Amino acid sequence: MSRIRAAITGIQGWVPPYILTNKELEAMVDTSDEWIMSRTGIRERHILKGEGLGTSDMAAEAVKGLLEKTGTRPEEIGLVICATVTPDMIFPATANIVCDKAGIKNAFSFDMNAACSGLLYALVTGSKYIETETCKKVIVIGADKMSSITDYKSRETCVLFGDAAGAIMLEPTTEEVGIMDSIMQSDGSGRFYLHMKAGGSLKPPSYETIDAREHFVYQEGQPVFKFAVTKMADVAAEIMAKNNLKSEDVAYLVPHQANLRIIDATARRMGVGKDQVMINIERYGNTTGGTIPLCLWEWENKLKKGDNIILAAFGGGFTWGSIWLKWAY
Ligand code: UT7
Repeated sequence: MSRIRAAITGIQGWVPPYILTNKELEAMVDTSDEWIMSRTGIRERHILKGEGLGTSDMAAEAVKGLLEKTGTRPEEIGLVICATVTPDMIFPATANIVCDKAGIKNAFSFDMNAACSGLLYALVTGSKYIETETCKKVIVIGADKMSSITDYKSRETCVLFGDAAGAIMLEPTTEEVGIMDSIMQSDGSGRFYLHMKAGGSLKPPSYETIDAREHFVYQEGQPVFKFAVTKMADVAAEIMAKNNLKSEDVAYLVPHQANLRIIDATARRMGVGKDQVMINIERYGNTTGGTIPLCLWEWENKLKKGDNIILAAFGGGFTWGSIWLKWAY
Protein backbone atom coordinates (compact mmCIF):
# COMPACT_ATOMS: atom_id res chain seq x y z
CA MET A 1 0.00 0.00 0.00
CA SER A 2 1.37 3.43 -0.89
CA ARG A 3 2.12 5.86 1.86
CA ILE A 4 -0.39 8.58 2.77
CA ARG A 5 1.01 12.08 2.74
CA ALA A 6 -0.55 15.44 3.55
CA ALA A 7 -0.95 17.59 0.44
CA ILE A 8 -1.71 21.28 0.30
CA THR A 9 -4.91 21.47 -1.76
CA GLY A 10 -5.70 25.16 -1.35
CA ILE A 11 -4.31 28.40 0.01
CA GLN A 12 -5.92 31.73 0.80
CA GLY A 13 -4.55 34.96 2.26
CA TRP A 14 -6.18 38.02 3.71
CA VAL A 15 -4.72 41.44 4.51
CA PRO A 16 -6.54 44.41 5.98
CA PRO A 17 -7.01 47.35 3.59
CA TYR A 18 -5.16 50.06 5.56
CA ILE A 19 -1.54 50.53 4.40
CA LEU A 20 1.03 52.09 6.76
CA THR A 21 3.91 53.43 4.66
CA ASN A 22 7.49 54.26 5.62
CA LYS A 23 6.62 57.90 4.88
CA GLU A 24 3.91 57.80 7.53
CA LEU A 25 6.30 56.17 10.04
CA GLU A 26 8.79 59.00 9.42
CA ALA A 27 6.22 61.32 11.00
CA MET A 28 5.75 59.01 14.01
CA VAL A 29 9.33 58.10 15.03
CA ASP A 30 12.89 59.21 14.17
CA THR A 31 13.38 57.01 11.10
CA SER A 32 13.61 57.26 7.32
CA ASP A 33 12.39 55.35 4.30
CA GLU A 34 16.05 54.96 3.31
CA TRP A 35 17.01 53.32 6.65
CA ILE A 36 14.02 50.98 6.68
CA MET A 37 14.45 49.92 3.04
CA SER A 38 18.21 49.39 3.24
CA ARG A 39 18.16 47.53 6.61
CA THR A 40 14.98 45.47 6.18
CA GLY A 41 13.59 45.71 2.62
CA ILE A 42 10.19 46.87 3.93
CA ARG A 43 8.34 49.76 2.25
CA GLU A 44 4.82 49.34 3.66
CA ARG A 45 2.70 47.06 5.80
CA HIS A 46 -1.06 46.44 6.24
CA ILE A 47 -2.68 47.31 9.56
CA LEU A 48 -6.02 46.10 10.94
CA LYS A 49 -7.96 49.20 12.01
CA GLY A 50 -11.27 49.31 13.82
CA GLU A 51 -12.68 48.64 17.27
CA GLY A 52 -13.41 45.07 18.24
CA LEU A 53 -11.38 43.43 15.48
CA GLY A 54 -8.73 40.86 16.33
CA THR A 55 -6.60 38.15 14.78
CA SER A 56 -9.61 35.83 14.49
CA ASP A 57 -11.38 38.28 12.17
CA MET A 58 -8.51 38.23 9.68
CA ALA A 59 -8.12 34.46 10.02
CA ALA A 60 -11.86 33.88 9.55
CA GLU A 61 -11.77 35.88 6.30
CA ALA A 62 -8.92 33.71 5.03
CA VAL A 63 -10.69 30.51 6.12
CA LYS A 64 -14.02 31.50 4.54
CA GLY A 65 -12.20 32.31 1.29
CA LEU A 66 -10.37 28.98 1.44
CA LEU A 67 -13.60 27.00 1.97
CA GLU A 68 -15.25 28.75 -0.95
CA LYS A 69 -12.26 28.40 -3.27
CA THR A 70 -11.80 24.68 -2.55
CA GLY A 71 -15.54 23.93 -2.64
CA THR A 72 -15.43 22.61 0.92
CA ARG A 73 -18.38 22.61 3.31
CA PRO A 74 -17.43 23.80 6.84
CA GLU A 75 -18.69 20.54 8.38
CA GLU A 76 -16.09 18.55 6.41
CA ILE A 77 -13.21 20.08 8.38
CA GLY A 78 -11.86 17.83 11.14
CA LEU A 79 -9.12 20.00 12.65
CA VAL A 80 -8.12 23.68 12.66
CA ILE A 81 -4.74 24.81 13.97
CA CYS A 82 -4.01 28.52 14.28
CA ALA A 83 -0.39 29.63 14.56
CA THR A 84 -0.35 33.01 16.26
CA VAL A 85 1.43 35.09 18.90
CA THR A 86 -1.41 37.59 18.98
CA PRO A 87 -4.43 35.51 20.01
CA ASP A 88 -7.71 37.38 20.46
CA MET A 89 -7.50 36.47 24.15
CA ILE A 90 -5.14 34.39 26.31
CA PHE A 91 -7.97 31.84 26.27
CA PRO A 92 -9.98 30.44 24.60
CA ALA A 93 -7.84 29.60 21.61
CA THR A 94 -8.20 31.85 18.58
CA ALA A 95 -8.69 28.68 16.50
CA ASN A 96 -11.93 28.02 18.49
CA ILE A 97 -13.15 31.54 17.69
CA VAL A 98 -12.22 31.24 14.01
CA CYS A 99 -14.25 28.01 13.74
CA ASP A 100 -17.26 29.79 15.20
CA LYS A 101 -16.89 32.74 12.82
CA ALA A 102 -16.40 30.49 9.79
CA GLY A 103 -19.25 28.08 10.65
CA ILE A 104 -16.93 25.10 11.32
CA LYS A 105 -18.85 22.86 13.73
CA ASN A 106 -17.28 19.37 13.63
CA ALA A 107 -13.63 20.20 14.15
CA PHE A 108 -11.38 20.21 17.16
CA SER A 109 -9.15 23.26 17.14
CA PHE A 110 -6.21 24.72 18.98
CA ASP A 111 -3.55 27.42 18.76
CA MET A 112 0.14 26.94 18.29
CA ASN A 113 2.74 29.40 19.52
CA ALA A 114 6.13 29.13 17.89
CA ALA A 115 6.38 32.83 17.00
CA CYS A 116 7.64 33.36 13.44
CA SER A 117 8.11 29.61 12.92
CA GLY A 118 4.52 28.98 14.01
CA LEU A 119 3.17 28.26 10.56
CA LEU A 120 5.80 25.58 9.96
CA TYR A 121 5.16 23.98 13.35
CA ALA A 122 1.39 23.99 12.66
CA LEU A 123 1.84 22.60 9.15
CA VAL A 124 3.95 19.69 10.39
CA THR A 125 1.53 19.02 13.25
CA GLY A 126 -1.50 19.17 10.94
CA SER A 127 0.17 16.84 8.45
CA LYS A 128 0.47 14.13 11.12
CA TYR A 129 -3.31 14.05 11.60
CA ILE A 130 -3.66 13.48 7.85
CA GLU A 131 -0.86 10.90 7.57
CA THR A 132 -2.34 8.85 10.43
CA GLU A 133 -5.81 9.10 8.84
CA THR A 134 -7.15 10.81 11.95
CA CYS A 135 -8.60 13.66 9.86
CA LYS A 136 -9.56 13.98 6.19
CA LYS A 137 -9.37 17.76 5.97
CA VAL A 138 -7.23 19.99 8.16
CA ILE A 139 -6.96 23.78 8.00
CA VAL A 140 -3.70 25.34 9.12
CA ILE A 141 -3.79 29.07 9.76
CA GLY A 142 -0.99 31.58 10.26
CA ALA A 143 -2.42 34.87 11.50
CA ASP A 144 -1.17 37.79 13.50
CA LYS A 145 -2.35 41.26 14.38
CA MET A 146 1.19 42.38 15.14
CA SER A 147 0.00 46.00 15.40
CA SER A 148 -1.67 45.01 18.69
CA ILE A 149 1.72 44.30 20.32
CA THR A 150 3.86 46.83 18.45
CA ASP A 151 5.12 49.95 20.23
CA TYR A 152 4.65 52.81 17.78
CA LYS A 153 7.01 54.90 19.91
CA SER A 154 9.91 52.46 19.33
CA ARG A 155 11.67 52.92 16.01
CA GLU A 156 13.59 49.67 16.58
CA THR A 157 10.45 47.55 16.20
CA CYS A 158 7.53 49.56 14.82
CA VAL A 159 8.94 49.65 11.29
CA LEU A 160 9.13 45.85 11.10
CA PHE A 161 5.66 44.44 11.63
CA GLY A 162 2.35 44.19 9.80
CA ASP A 163 -0.98 42.36 10.10
CA ALA A 164 -2.14 39.46 7.93
CA ALA A 165 -3.67 36.00 7.84
CA GLY A 166 -3.28 32.97 5.63
CA ALA A 167 -5.08 29.61 5.60
CA ILE A 168 -3.91 26.33 4.12
CA MET A 169 -6.01 23.21 3.35
CA LEU A 170 -4.37 19.83 3.95
CA GLU A 171 -5.80 16.61 2.53
CA PRO A 172 -4.49 13.06 2.10
CA THR A 173 -2.81 11.87 -1.07
CA THR A 174 -1.09 8.66 -2.15
CA GLU A 175 0.74 10.43 -4.96
CA GLU A 176 4.39 11.52 -4.60
CA VAL A 177 3.37 15.08 -3.63
CA GLY A 178 2.64 16.94 -0.40
CA ILE A 179 4.74 17.36 2.72
CA MET A 180 7.80 15.20 2.14
CA ASP A 181 10.10 16.01 5.06
CA SER A 182 10.68 18.51 7.84
CA ILE A 183 13.30 19.59 10.37
CA MET A 184 12.00 21.56 13.35
CA GLN A 185 14.07 22.93 16.20
CA SER A 186 13.92 25.21 19.23
CA ASP A 187 16.20 26.70 21.86
CA GLY A 188 14.44 28.43 24.73
CA SER A 189 17.61 30.15 25.91
CA GLY A 190 16.98 32.57 23.03
CA ARG A 191 13.90 33.93 24.82
CA PHE A 192 15.88 36.80 26.35
CA TYR A 193 16.43 38.43 22.96
CA LEU A 194 12.87 38.39 21.63
CA HIS A 195 9.77 38.35 23.81
CA MET A 196 6.93 40.28 25.40
CA LYS A 197 7.90 41.11 28.97
CA ALA A 198 4.50 41.27 30.67
CA GLY A 199 0.98 39.97 30.37
CA GLY A 200 1.75 36.29 31.03
CA SER A 201 1.82 34.33 34.29
CA LEU A 202 5.40 35.40 35.02
CA LYS A 203 4.47 39.07 35.09
CA PRO A 204 0.72 39.67 34.98
CA PRO A 205 -0.54 43.03 33.72
CA SER A 206 -0.39 45.93 36.16
CA TYR A 207 -0.27 49.71 36.02
CA GLU A 208 3.52 49.38 36.33
CA THR A 209 3.85 47.04 33.34
CA ILE A 210 1.72 49.36 31.25
CA ASP A 211 3.73 52.44 32.29
CA ALA A 212 6.96 50.55 31.44
CA ARG A 213 5.55 49.68 27.97
CA GLU A 214 6.05 45.97 28.65
CA HIS A 215 3.09 44.74 26.63
CA PHE A 216 4.88 45.20 23.33
CA VAL A 217 7.41 43.16 21.33
CA TYR A 218 10.87 43.48 22.85
CA GLN A 219 13.69 42.58 20.48
CA GLU A 220 17.46 42.87 20.58
CA GLY A 221 17.83 43.15 16.83
CA GLN A 222 21.47 42.25 16.31
CA PRO A 223 21.68 38.97 18.26
CA VAL A 224 18.37 37.85 16.74
CA PHE A 225 19.70 38.77 13.31
CA LYS A 226 22.87 36.71 13.84
CA PHE A 227 20.93 33.62 14.98
CA ALA A 228 18.33 34.03 12.23
CA VAL A 229 20.90 34.30 9.44
CA THR A 230 22.74 31.20 10.62
CA LYS A 231 19.87 28.97 11.70
CA MET A 232 17.49 29.63 8.80
CA ALA A 233 20.23 29.15 6.21
CA ASP A 234 21.61 26.06 8.00
CA VAL A 235 18.27 24.30 8.32
CA ALA A 236 17.28 25.02 4.70
CA ALA A 237 20.63 23.67 3.47
CA GLU A 238 20.29 20.67 5.82
CA ILE A 239 16.88 19.59 4.51
CA MET A 240 18.21 19.82 0.94
CA ALA A 241 21.28 17.71 1.75
CA LYS A 242 19.20 15.17 3.70
CA ASN A 243 16.95 14.64 0.68
CA ASN A 244 19.62 14.93 -2.04
CA LEU A 245 18.05 18.06 -3.46
CA LYS A 246 20.30 20.24 -5.61
CA SER A 247 19.63 23.95 -6.06
CA GLU A 248 18.38 23.34 -9.60
CA ASP A 249 15.79 20.86 -8.23
CA VAL A 250 14.19 23.59 -6.10
CA ALA A 251 11.38 25.54 -7.77
CA TYR A 252 11.00 27.96 -4.85
CA LEU A 253 12.39 28.84 -1.46
CA VAL A 254 9.61 30.30 0.69
CA PRO A 255 11.38 32.06 3.56
CA HIS A 256 9.83 33.73 6.58
CA GLN A 257 9.83 37.45 5.76
CA ALA A 258 11.60 39.19 8.67
CA ASN A 259 14.43 40.92 6.87
CA LEU A 260 15.49 40.92 3.22
CA ARG A 261 19.13 40.45 4.28
CA ILE A 262 18.26 37.22 6.15
CA ILE A 263 16.30 35.98 3.11
CA ASP A 264 19.23 36.74 0.78
CA ALA A 265 21.66 34.92 3.07
CA THR A 266 19.43 31.82 3.12
CA ALA A 267 19.07 31.85 -0.68
CA ARG A 268 22.85 32.21 -1.11
CA ARG A 269 23.49 29.29 1.24
CA MET A 270 21.05 27.11 -0.76
CA GLY A 271 22.60 28.27 -4.02
CA VAL A 272 19.25 29.40 -5.45
CA GLY A 273 18.78 32.53 -7.56
CA LYS A 274 16.46 35.48 -6.88
CA ASP A 275 13.86 34.10 -9.30
CA GLN A 276 13.61 30.97 -7.11
CA VAL A 277 12.73 32.91 -3.94
CA MET A 278 9.29 34.18 -2.91
CA ILE A 279 9.78 37.68 -1.51
CA ASN A 280 6.97 40.09 -0.66
CA ILE A 281 8.39 41.68 2.51
CA GLU A 282 8.43 45.07 0.76
CA ARG A 283 4.60 45.24 0.78
CA TYR A 284 3.68 43.42 4.01
CA GLY A 285 6.62 43.59 6.45
CA ASN A 286 6.93 40.84 9.05
CA THR A 287 3.44 39.42 9.68
CA THR A 288 4.81 36.58 11.89
CA GLY A 289 2.46 33.60 11.28
CA GLY A 290 1.19 35.18 8.08
CA THR A 291 4.35 35.51 6.00
CA ILE A 292 4.67 32.03 4.48
CA PRO A 293 0.99 31.50 3.55
CA LEU A 294 0.86 35.02 2.08
CA CYS A 295 3.79 34.15 -0.19
CA LEU A 296 2.28 30.82 -1.30
CA TRP A 297 -1.06 32.59 -1.94
CA GLU A 298 0.55 35.28 -4.09
CA TRP A 299 2.65 32.79 -6.06
CA GLU A 300 -0.10 30.12 -6.32
CA ASN A 301 -0.72 30.73 -10.05
CA LYS A 302 2.95 30.20 -10.88
CA LEU A 303 3.20 26.84 -9.08
CA LYS A 304 3.00 23.54 -10.91
CA LYS A 305 2.21 20.06 -9.64
CA GLY A 306 5.40 18.35 -8.47
CA ASP A 307 7.35 21.59 -7.86
CA ASN A 308 9.87 21.18 -5.04
CA ILE A 309 9.34 23.91 -2.47
CA ILE A 310 11.45 24.60 0.61
CA LEU A 311 9.81 26.52 3.45
CA ALA A 312 12.16 28.01 6.05
CA ALA A 313 11.59 30.12 9.14
CA PHE A 314 13.25 31.49 12.26
CA GLY A 315 11.54 33.21 15.15
CA GLY A 316 11.14 33.99 18.83
CA GLY A 317 11.80 31.17 21.26
CA PHE A 318 14.12 30.67 19.51
CA THR A 319 12.32 28.42 17.06
CA TRP A 320 13.35 27.51 13.54
CA GLY A 321 12.74 24.91 10.92
CA SER A 322 12.35 23.89 7.32
CA ILE A 323 9.83 21.85 5.34
CA TRP A 324 10.32 20.22 1.95
CA LEU A 325 7.06 19.85 0.06
CA LYS A 326 6.00 18.97 -3.44
CA TRP A 327 3.19 21.15 -4.75
CA ALA A 328 0.11 19.03 -5.30
CA TYR A 329 -1.94 20.92 -7.94
O1 UT7 B 1 10.88 37.46 12.76
C1 UT7 B 1 11.42 36.99 13.95
C2 UT7 B 1 12.89 37.13 14.01
N1 UT7 B 1 13.31 38.50 13.90
C3 UT7 B 1 14.27 38.82 13.04
O2 UT7 B 1 14.71 37.98 12.29
C4 UT7 B 1 14.80 40.23 13.08
C5 UT7 B 1 16.31 40.18 13.09
N2 UT7 B 1 16.93 41.51 13.23
C6 UT7 B 1 16.90 42.40 12.23
O3 UT7 B 1 16.26 42.20 11.21
C7 UT7 B 1 17.73 43.65 12.39
O4 UT7 B 1 18.59 43.51 13.48
C8 UT7 B 1 16.88 44.96 12.55
C9 UT7 B 1 16.19 45.28 11.24
C10 UT7 B 1 15.86 44.80 13.66
C11 UT7 B 1 17.81 46.14 12.87
O5 UT7 B 1 18.82 46.26 11.88
P1 UT7 B 1 20.38 46.36 12.27
O6 UT7 B 1 21.12 46.52 11.01
O7 UT7 B 1 20.69 45.16 13.12
O8 UT7 B 1 20.41 47.70 13.10
P2 UT7 B 1 20.89 47.94 14.60
O9 UT7 B 1 19.87 47.41 15.56
O10 UT7 B 1 22.30 47.49 14.75
O11 UT7 B 1 20.89 49.50 14.66
C12 UT7 B 1 21.80 50.30 13.90
C13 UT7 B 1 21.51 51.75 14.15
C14 UT7 B 1 21.40 52.11 15.64
O12 UT7 B 1 21.92 53.40 15.80
P3 UT7 B 1 23.43 53.63 16.34
O13 UT7 B 1 23.46 52.96 17.68
O14 UT7 B 1 24.30 52.96 15.34
O15 UT7 B 1 23.54 55.11 16.39
C15 UT7 B 1 19.93 52.15 15.87
O16 UT7 B 1 19.55 53.00 16.95
O17 UT7 B 1 20.24 52.10 13.58
C16 UT7 B 1 19.41 52.70 14.57
N3 UT7 B 1 18.03 52.37 14.28
C17 UT7 B 1 17.28 53.09 13.45
N4 UT7 B 1 17.52 54.18 12.71
C18 UT7 B 1 16.53 54.64 11.95
C19 UT7 B 1 17.32 51.32 14.74
N5 UT7 B 1 16.08 51.33 14.21
C20 UT7 B 1 16.03 52.43 13.40
C21 UT7 B 1 15.03 52.97 12.57
N6 UT7 B 1 15.33 54.09 11.87
N7 UT7 B 1 13.82 52.41 12.46
